[in-house]
Order: sequence, then C-alpha cells, then structure tokens
Amino acid sequence: MANETTRDSTATDRYGVMGYPVSHSRSPLIHKLFALQTGQKLQYELLQVAPEKLEAAVRQFQRTGGKGLNITVPHKGEVTRLVDQMSERAATAGAVNTLAFQDGKIIGDNTDGIGLLRDLAVNLGLVLEGANILILGAGGATRGIIGPLLEMQPSSVCIANRSLGKAKALADKFSRSGPVSASRFRVVPVSEPYDLVINATSAGLRGESPPYPAAAISATTFCYDLSYGLKPTPFSKWARENGAARSVMGWGMLVEQAAESFTIWRGVRPDTAPVLRQMSIAA
Ligand code: ATR
Repeated sequence: MANETTRDSTATDRYGVMGYPVSHSRSPLIHKLFALQTGQKLQYELLQVAPEKLEAAVRQFQRTGGKGLNITVPHKGEVTRLVDQMSERAATAGAVNTLAFQDGKIIGDNTDGIGLLRDLAVNLGLVLEGANILILGAGGATRGIIGPLLEMQPSSVCIANRSLGKAKALADKFSRSGPVSASRFRVVPVSEPYDLVINATSAGLRGESPPYPAAAISATTFCYDLSYGLKPTPFSKWARENGAARSVMGWGMLVEQAAESFTIWRGVRPDTAPVLRQMSIAA
C-alpha cells in the first residue's frame, strides 16, 4: 500500500475545496464537468476544515501529493499566511481562493474578481466602462471584486455598508485605482441612476434580509447577487420587486471563477456555457 510519501506517480491528480461548512459546495460537480469536457483526468474532493485546522489540512494535502485547492469561506483571508508566492490580484484582494502546489511551493491566486467580470461582461453582455456601480457590503467579497471592477473604468463605484468605517477604509485603499466613494448602507447617494447594483453582503447567507436601499434601483438598473441558490435569494427577489431591469444570482461567477482555477491548474480553459446549462441554472 502506498504511504503518504510514496504515492504512485500515475495516480489521478488530486484537487479539492476547503471551507467550513462546505457540504453545500457545487465546486466538485463543476470541476467534474470541466474534466469530462476537456478529457483531463483528475479527482476533486470536498474538504470540511475548521478554522483552527486550516494550516495542518493544507500542508497535509500538499504532503500527500495534492495538486491544488480552492479555498472558500471562511478561510480566504487566513490562507494568505500559508502561501510562498501570491499573484498581484490576490495580494490586492488580501484573499486567496486558489492554491497550486508546485515544486514544493504553495502558489496563491484569486479568481473571484475575474470570474465576476467574465460573467458580467461576457455571459451577460454588460458594458462596465462608464457605468455607475453600487456595491452593497464592505467585507471580503467586496475586497475581491473592487480592484477588477475599477480596471473596467466605470464612471463611479460607491461602496455602501452598514458600518460606514469599513466602506471608507476600502474606498481609501482603492482611491488611487479609480473613482470610488463610501456611503452608509441605507442612504446611498442617487444623483444618477445606478447601472449595476451588486450585493456583496453575507446577509443572505445568514438568512437575513437587511433594508436594501430601494432608491438605488431604477428601471435600467441591473442587479447582481454574489450569492446564489436554487430559489431566488432575498436580494434578487427584492431587486425584482423594486423594478430592476434584471436580477441575476452569482451562478455564472461561481462557474467562471472555477474555470479560471481549472486553467491555472491544468493549462486548459474549459468552455463554461455548457457547464452553466448542465447545472440547469442558467438564469
Ligand atoms: P467578511 O467577508 O469580511 O468575513 P462578513 O462578516 O461576512 O465579513 O460580512 C460581509 C459584509 O456583509 C459586511 O459588509 C457586513 O456588514 P458590516 O461590515 O456592517 O458587518 C455585511 N452584512 C452582513 N450581514 C448584514 C446585514 N444583516 N445587514 C447589512 N449588512 C450585512
């Protein structure tokens, strides 16, 4: 029997997703579909790891020949301490969602921002250049997407948060990258209608439905919830009820960020459209 250090070199390459909790994750299904589509031989595991066990679990996965990991809530910030080399976009976000184990090193990257951009710009056909964008929430999810969004040269990005201090800190951090401002959650400035409102709060995940700012929605506003579910999320329902032009959940971002991770690991880019369709979730 192979022990930890003498694995058969022809064994199937191992990947997985680490989170807590993680049982709801669709990543194993998505990567299985990518592997089938591209003819890549790999296995992908669900790894439920409590915060205090994160380092031991990552190192064990590496030691036993694992090739790469996706890292999800709540570990994306903490795992940055374990990486030997980090991409610029992960450093900017202060968060890592993809690890690659190469030549004894741990390489960290963050594919969330590019995943969102691909979904918005390619799958959904939104033009972000010149757009007025409102982001609700100022936690880890916002940190991951704000840099890539500003690179698309929007007219304005307002970060609105329940606690103003966190929104201000993020706006200050990114002020050199573009026109970004901060606001309180309930009283967002509406001098011009928003083209895009993104829900990046974790409220829905906790079953909470905060008083989202209805004044931000007009008949031309596109609403996007980074959260997703088989049923409409509270934010996507709220957006529809308040007259948004369109209200979309983050399934596309989930598949796109996974495709980017897959490309980093395997050097092959899967076609995301059939995977989105196969999951029967294309909105
Ligand atoms: P992190 O992503 O940094 O771990 P989090 O606690 O998951 O943070 O929260 C992410 C975001 O969702 C935060 O902006 C948080 O607002 P606060 O900074 O004011 O805590 C927001 N959030 C979570 N629950 C919320 C709720 N019920 N109403 C409004 N905002 C909420």
